[in-house]
Amino acid sequence: MFKLNNFSYHGKTVFLRADLNSPVKEGRIISDARFRAVLPTIVYLLEHGAKVVIGTHQGKPYGGDYMTTEEHARILSGLLSQEVEYVEDIFGRYARERIKGLKPGETLILENLRFAAEEVMYKPIEDCEKTFFVRKLAPLIDYVVNDAFAAAHRSQPSLVGFARLKPMVMGFLMEREVEALTRAYGAEERPRVYVLGGAKVDDSLRVAENVLREEKADLILTGGLVGQLFTLAKGFDLGGANIDLLERRGIINLVDWAEHILDRFYPQVRTPVDFAVDYKGGRFEVDLLEDRKEVFDERPILDIGSRTVEKYRAILRDASIIVANGPMGVFEMEEFSAGTFEIFKAIGESPAFSVVGGGHSIASIYRHNITGISHVSTGGGAMLSFFAGERLPVLEAFRISYERFKDKLKREEPRAPLNNP
Ligand code: 3PG
Repeated sequence: MFKLNNFSYHGKTVFLRADLNSPVKEGRIISDARFRAVLPTIVYLLEHGAKVVIGTHQGKPYGGDYMTTEEHARILSGLLSQEVEYVEDIFGRYARERIKGLKPGETLILENLRFAAEEVMYKPIEDCEKTFFVRKLAPLIDYVVNDAFAAAHRSQPSLVGFARLKPMVMGFLMEREVEALTRAYGAEERPRVYVLGGAKVDDSLRVAENVLREEKADLILTGGLVGQLFTLAKGFDLGGANIDLLERRGIINLVDWAEHILDRFYPQVRTPVDFAVDYKGGRFEVDLLEDRKEVFDERPILDIGSRTVEKYRAILRDASIIVANGPMGVFEMEEFSAGTFEIFKAIGESPAFSVVGGGHSIASIYRHNITGISHVSTGGGAMLSFFAGERLPVLEAFRISYERFKDKLKREEPRAPLNNP
């Protein structure tokens, strides 16, 4: 696949597809983690004289975090100490004029790409190529750099649509992500421990099933809603309040699937032995071995308990490889962030090669200054897709683009070394 240093960019127009989709509170972005992650690629392009057109999505239509990229431009300008112009257009005449007006070393950011209907569909490359987005912008662009690892599981025009039309190059972040995840997935060292939490339960079940079946994992530690589902599948009663929540989120009907995984791999799937709930305004822990489980009828589970943390910590300490995705509980609430924080901390303290992701939950890693994790992935769903053994459309697009352009570019750019994929 093409890497950034395979080409020279001076005076060239580069479309940089980043994933700056970030958590939002009361209309404001509350974490700049994804901005910082993509910064080295932007700096490299600007220093090499490229005219950089940045595109990102933010949220999903009708969601609370769906908004313009005006604030993204402001945050990027601050981090780069140089103006990043916010262009309130995607591929219309105004956007095209602003792109044509860029000078080497200048950059702009297009409007939230999901404001265009074409961008919210999942279509194969051939269809993405026919969209107005790609047709209008392709004539203005020399190279596409894709650094949006967190969206690599999406087949959408801005992510894959240029692959057969322009050389599509991996940004530094993309390269680091793919290298780290590939290393963890293919590792022979044992024990290999996967920690699956959060609310993307069906994605996590796909990962669990794949890594156990393919013998990529030796143990799976569960938390968050994933942990609750497996606890139920083991036959524990989690009470009315929790069953209702799992029902409302459409998770309860995944219990058969979880049971099926347990039928085959029971000893390898560990579930919490205690949980924390909100009781009289404070954190209250209930052990599954105690007789206080009626608490679960009224109180939803908000975190794993401290006995679970201790058990998981001991396993993580002896692991050689750790892959973790998603929080252990409602980490946004200070009193219930302990499980997530302690597990991430234990991963950082372990000598294992570790990869941790989970979209927005990685913000808590930065908030608590946790160190020692080998690779903090920007990917949530993309990381899960990768470990579920699925082919990620963006990685496919890199391969297609490489095959299409490698010979032509060897002739045109004799000084640029080409690495084999
Ligand atoms: C993410 O945060 O997982 C990526 O930005 C992808 O977002 P999406 O799930 O809305 O496609």
